[in-house]
Formats: sequence, structure tokens, C-alpha cells
Amino acid sequence: MIFPEKYQLIRKLARDFAEKELTSEILDEVEDTKVFPKDILKKMAQAGFFGIKVPRKYGGQGSDHLAYVVTVEEIARVSAVGSLYVNSPNSLGGMSILVAGTEEQKMRYLKPMVEGDIVIPFGLTEPGGGSDAGDIRTTAVKDGDYYILNGRKTFITMAPFADYSIIYAKIGKGPGKEGVTAFIVDMTLPGVSVGKEEEKMGLIGCATSDVILEDVRVHKDNILGEIGSGFKDAMRCLDVGRLGVAAQAAGVAQACLDEAVKYAKERKQFGKFLYEHQSIAFMIADMATKLKAAKELVYDAALTKDHGGNTTMASAIAKYYASEICNELAAKSLQIHGGYGFVRGFKIERLYRDSRVFTIYEGTSQIQQIVISRQLFGK
Ligand code: CAA
Repeated sequence: MIFPEKYQLIRKLARDFAEKELTSEILDEVEDTKVFPKDILKKMAQAGFFGIKVPRKYGGQGSDHLAYVVTVEEIARVSAVGSLYVNSPNSLGGMSILVAGTEEQKMRYLKPMVEGDIVIPFGLTEPGGGSDAGDIRTTAVKDGDYYILNGRKTFITMAPFADYSIIYAKIGKGPGKEGVTAFIVDMTLPGVSVGKEEEKMGLIGCATSDVILEDVRVHKDNILGEIGSGFKDAMRCLDVGRLGVAAQAAGVAQACLDEAVKYAKERKQFGKFLYEHQSIAFMIADMATKLKAAKELVYDAALTKDHGGNTTMASAIAKYYASEICNELAAKSLQIHGGYGFVRGFKIERLYRDSRVFTIYEGTSQIQQIVISRQLFGK
């Protein structure tokens, strides 16, 4: 796709930021300490990265989904974990409030989130319900003006340092998803705690844990959206979240290709450079082709969203394809690096680990296939 000048400038801004701030020394330190530097997060907020699509009246940039995916892609090309910090407020965290929040909730939460002062993760997944997101066991029982929440959310990105969390809980004993409702839960409320930080294989530097709710009293003003509309609102957020993951995958896949090309031009075997071996040159040509196709799907999904088209379908296709080929490119690029790709110190080792989650979080590839096929055939 040939981008209009505005998006070329946005891409340049994100690329320059990533290359200047996310140096290999800093990224190695993030891997060692498992902590992402707060000053870089602040700079990301100042650059406007946390509110790309958030309307200006709530402190955001008021831009569109194409600007969002281009930014995420460029940050992910340098640092997958860095792109996760950009993704979250623009997708599941911010979207939950944009999709379903009252004017007062939008004013109260979006501005500090965009400015990097508060973190609001998305608490949908439960230990027993990952892909089957509607099987929510967390309960919300009415008690006057309050709801008493009990349950456990799992794999919640950023939970260990969150200020609030969107929690999906079930009101009543109706069948299936009936009564599923979203709440904005203050993480300092009595009865809220977080589980042990997960030891993840990738995206190190952005902590993930359970959120545990034990008799947590949440005022009814903190209901997000309509009572009972929680599941559909969550699905609407995931339509945009999946677009963000697709952009992350495209950025990481680009980095895998970059590393393969670089290494193939440096390394000699049997008296010639790797790229002079047809087996390697063709492998890299195949990678470039798939990456191009994935990026076009990501941009198409963003434009579809910006022009009011069927985002559910376009996002699922983009996420499915981009995350699958990202894993393929990571594996092939590592293969080209041979033994050096298997040890720490070469960028491809981290890219390989980081890429693994893209076919899993925000809906596995198999869930995307369900979404795509249901769009084709109806239910
Ligand atoms: N937009 C609006 N409404 C939607 C929708 C969408 N995208 N998708 C479904 N709905 C509606 C349906 O139309 C249906 O409405 P009616 O009851 O009025 O007919 C209702 O929601 C129920 O839909 P389904 O019957 O299709 O629901 P299902 O139980 O069969 O599940 C699913 C559908 C797509 C498989 C869903 O369960 C799903 O997306 N699962 C994956 C969950 C997921 O992605 N989890 C990621 C968690 S977040 C994360 O990973 C981030 C992190 O921090 C780690």
C-alpha cells in the first residue's frame, strides 16, 4: 500500500522514537530485570502513543486505526514488549471504556490513561474459560448500591501494576452469557489482590498475573455499559484488540526478515555468503512475500474499521494470518542463523520467543478460524 504523507510521517515518528529510545542495551536490560523503564513509558505517553485513537476531548490524538497500526508495527519492529505498552491503552483497556463508558467514565479514566498516569487492563479470561470467553464464573451479587464481586481472572497483562481493571462478571444465574456485565474495579479496593507474576517465555518486561476478587464491593456507578451487555462489548473490544495484535505480529515479522537479510549478507559458508546459496535466498524471498501479504491485511483491516466496514471479519483474518506468518518467519530466520540463533545475544532469539504469543493471546488462531468461518456461513 502506498501511504498518504500523513501516515508516512506517523511511521517516521514511531520508527525514530523506537530506534532512539529502545536501544539494544536497554532491551537487554529489560530482559534481565523484567522491568520496562518508566521514563520510556512517560516519553511514549508524551509522544501521544497511548491515545492514538482516543478522541481529543479525552486527551487523545483523535487519529484513526491506520495511524494506530502503523505506530504499533514500527514499535514492535524494535521491541515487541514496547509495542504491548502502546497496544493496551489503545485497544482492550481504552476500548472497553470508549465502547461502553458513560461520558463521565470517559472523562475520568481516559485522560490519565492516555497520559500514562494510570493503567487499566482487560480482565476477561478466567482459569477455566480462555477460548470459551463466555463461560464466566466470576459473580457479581447486588447489595444495595453495590455489587459484591467474587472470582479469579487469569493471564491479565499488566495486572501486577494496574490501577484499575475492567472485570467481566456474571449477574444472576441465567444461562450462558446472560447477565455478563463489565465493572471498572479499583485495584486498591479491599478484597482485590494479584497472583504471582507469570514466568513468560516472551514479552518479558510487561508483567502478567491473575486478579483475585474476594467479596469486593464495587459501587453501581462503576458498571461499564449496560447490565448484561458485557460479553458483546468484550467481543467488540477484541475486534480492535486483534487488529493491534496483527500489527504487533507484522512489526516483529519485519524484524525477523531484517535479521535474516542482515545475517545472510554477513555470514559465509562453503566459501560464499548465505544469500548466495539459493536455498537461503529463496527462503528469504518466501518470507518477504508472506510479510507483504500480512501487512496488506493489517492495513486493510484498519481501513475497514476507519470506514465502518465489517471489522470482526477483517481483524480476525489479519490477526490469524499475521500471527501465523510471524511465527513462521521467526522460525525460518532463526534457522538461517543456525546455532547462533539458539543462544542469547542474537536478536532473533528474543524475536522467536516474543512471536510465540501472537497466535495465542486475544484469541488463538483456532478462535480466529471460528470467527472467520462463522462470518462466512452464519451460525
Ligand atoms: N461483536 C459484537 N457482538 C458479537 C461479536 C462481535 N465481534 N461476536 C459475538 N457477538 C455476539 C453474537 O452475535 C451473539 O449475540 P446474540 O446472543 O444476540 O446472538 C453473542 O455475542 C454470543 O456470540 P457467540 O454465540 O458467537 O459466542 P460463543 O460463545 O460461541 O463465542 C467466540 C464466540 C468468538 C469463540 C468467543 O468466545 C471468543 O472470542 N473467544 C476467544 C476469547 C479471547 O479472544 N480471549 C482473549 C482474552 S484477552 C487477551 O488475551 C489479552 C491479554 O491480556 C492476555
